[in-house]
Amino acid sequence: MTQTPLVPLGPFAVSRQGYGAMGLSHAYGRADEAESFAVLDRAIEVGINFFDTADVYGQGHNETLLGRAVAGRRDRLVIASKFGNRLDRGQGGRQVDGRPEYVRQAVEASLKRLNIERIDLYYLHRLDPQTPVEDTVGALAELKRQGKIGAIGLSEVDAPTLRRAHAVHPIAALQSEYSLWTREVEAEILPTARELGIGFVAYSPLGRGFLAGAHPTEPTDRRHQHPRFQAEAVAENSQRRAVAEAVARRLGASLAQVSLAWVLSKNVVPIPGTRHVRHLDANWAANDLTLDPATLAELEAVFAPGSTAGARYPAGSTPVPGLAVA
Ligand SMILES: NC(=O)c1ccc[n+]([C@@H]2O[C@H](COP(=O)([O-])OP(=O)(O)OC[C@H]3O[C@@H](n4cnc5c(N)ncnc54)[C@H](OP(=O)(O)O)[C@@H]3O)[C@@H](O)[C@H]2O)c1
Repeated sequence: MTQTPLVPLGPFAVSRQGYGAMGLSHAYGRADEAESFAVLDRAIEVGINFFDTADVYGQGHNETLLGRAVAGRRDRLVIASKFGNRLDRGQGGRQVDGRPEYVRQAVEASLKRLNIERIDLYYLHRLDPQTPVEDTVGALAELKRQGKIGAIGLSEVDAPTLRRAHAVHPIAALQSEYSLWTREVEAEILPTARELGIGFVAYSPLGRGFLAGAHPTEPTDRRHQHPRFQAEAVAENSQRRAVAEAVARRLGASLAQVSLAWVLSKNVVPIPGTRHVRHLDANWAANDLTLDPATLAELEAVFAPGSTAGARYPAGSTPVPGLAVA
């Protein structure tokens, strides 16, 4: 089994890849509960110690599932969750909520579902356009003083917001989408995180499956609403993906492994998600795949920032400042 050294992420030492649990409850089709537990067990077994969830994934289901899976061994793990996408959205309340009073309410609910006493890394899932980030971070700092959370994270914020937040209290990690077909963070956001010493967690590192060769099959799959998964965009993006597939064939690796190896080459922490043990094993093995400079350049020329056909999120749910759920 691949042994990899831990890497720093804010105050934590985490495995080179974390595990994103969202798909076990939400977004990309049904998950089998027994296999979900098997995936989480296997993740711990191979050496993954960094687990990502959010209150909104499956409306609490994902936190409850993760809490059950890690019971008795959470001390060895770094558990991250997120709040701010209101579970009761659409009922006249706010859809994104970063108010201090809501932060205090949300953390209690997440702690209960996870059945733990401290959430190691607690992210604001989306910036609340009506609440200054300073206020939200101030409330999170108070939770940290109380020991309810171990560190503060933000998701999908721009560089100026990251600076403002970090001035109130050190931000341990920024979690944003980053993969071969989503490279916009390279311009300003990633350099700012590095300058401030903030860890970077790359979500959807497999392009929600596209960069692993996976496509939605079930009618309820959220990707049917995503512009990048519409037929025209798929046709165009598949031409780019063919180059990564050719690289994979040349290296005797899978497309998913090449996609993950590229993210790993940027010294960030990807959190790929999967509902299957065989995919987890394959993804973890990407730790052993090093892409040489010529191969990196070949991929980056084809996947130039901004070149992907189709927006990241459906209209009306753009992540910054955003109302997107996943
Ligand atoms: N902060 C945010 O706003 C935000 C947004 C989105 C996601 N996230 C986090 O990031 C995590 C990962 O992102 P994601 O789940 O959206 O996308 P992802 O990791 O890029 O891709 C997941 C998809 O890839 C497929 N897949 C995984 N490994 C594969 C392999 N080796 N071969 C073939 N297919 C494979 C999965 O299907 P199978 O299940 O069939 O393997 C699933 O459909 C989430 O779980 C969540 O924790 C955060």
